[in-house]
Amino acid sequence: MEIKVFAPATVSNVGCGFDIMGFAMQNPGDEMIVRTNDQKKLIIENQTNIAVPLEPTKNVTTIAIQAMLRKLESKQGFTIIYTKKISSGSGIGSSGASAVAGVFAVNKLLSETFSNYELLKFAMEGEVISSGSIHADNVAPALIGGFCIIKSCEPLDIISIPFPEELTTVVFLPNISLPTIEMRRILPKEVSLKTATMQWANVATLTAALMLNDTKRIADSLIDYIVEPARSKFIPNYTEIKHTMLRSGALGASISGSGPAIFSLTENQDKAETVSRAVSNLCNDLKIEGRIFISKISKEGARVVQLNDYK
Ligand code: HSE
Repeated sequence: MEIKVFAPATVSNVGCGFDIMGFAMQNPGDEMIVRTNDQKKLIIENQTNIAVPLEPTKNVTTIAIQAMLRKLESKQGFTIIYTKKISSGSGIGSSGASAVAGVFAVNKLLSETFSNYELLKFAMEGEVISSGSIHADNVAPALIGGFCIIKSCEPLDIISIPFPEELTTVVFLPNISLPTIEMRRILPKEVSLKTATMQWANVATLTAALMLNDTKRIADSLIDYIVEPARSKFIPNYTEIKHTMLRSGALGASISGSGPAIFSLTENQDKAETVSRAVSNLCNDLKIEGRIFISKISKEGARVVQLNDYK
């Protein structure tokens, strides 16, 4: 049997919500083919020009699938064919999407043995090797879609919240990569009570504003006092790009995940296109290389693209 699946890219942290907030994009995403094999092992094939670890103990997808097979005490072999277009270290959840795509695909081939809750736990095991720590703010929206709040990873507790239908993100993805593991090492170990208070005021306000369709308060609360100051210095032209997004009408802008991607939220598609044009002009002027994506928040997470049953 063979299945082709898609898992969306994700914007995690969403400014103030380090490790506890994330949303799914409609595009781009990770497309992957998974096929059963008779060799009782996991085989990785890379059909991209992006470097992918081919050793199953070092690859996010196969680590996540191995966790699943261990639980089942199964020796079934699978061949995983990577066709992804976004490399890891991009800031839009590429590794999370690869871990989710793998467990989602294998679960479909195994007649949906596991719940989403269990799949997320397997996917998080894969994510650990790319970030060095457990976090679910990419894998949760990549699997279930929408806007997710991670109440806790152990035990796993995720809340999906409503958000304004027309809310649209513009993501600028520079042509550099920043390993999440490194970008976590440079974070402050402690913050003052005053800073923490301002940050959790923003987290609470952003959550309420999304649920209440209050775009003014989305704009007011999309501010990160803790992580952005530490990480933004590793992203070339960060300030210029962020300010261009804000000046051209974005409600707010910040680092997507651990960077280098920079995201903004806009009220609708028209405003997103204006922001995208402004960023594109800036990139032409300053000779900054990268890609721009415009996407609504996707209500859908991982999905089947094609299923072939050879039996
Ligand atoms: N919340 C994680 C971090 C996301 O910021 O390190 C990594 O993609």
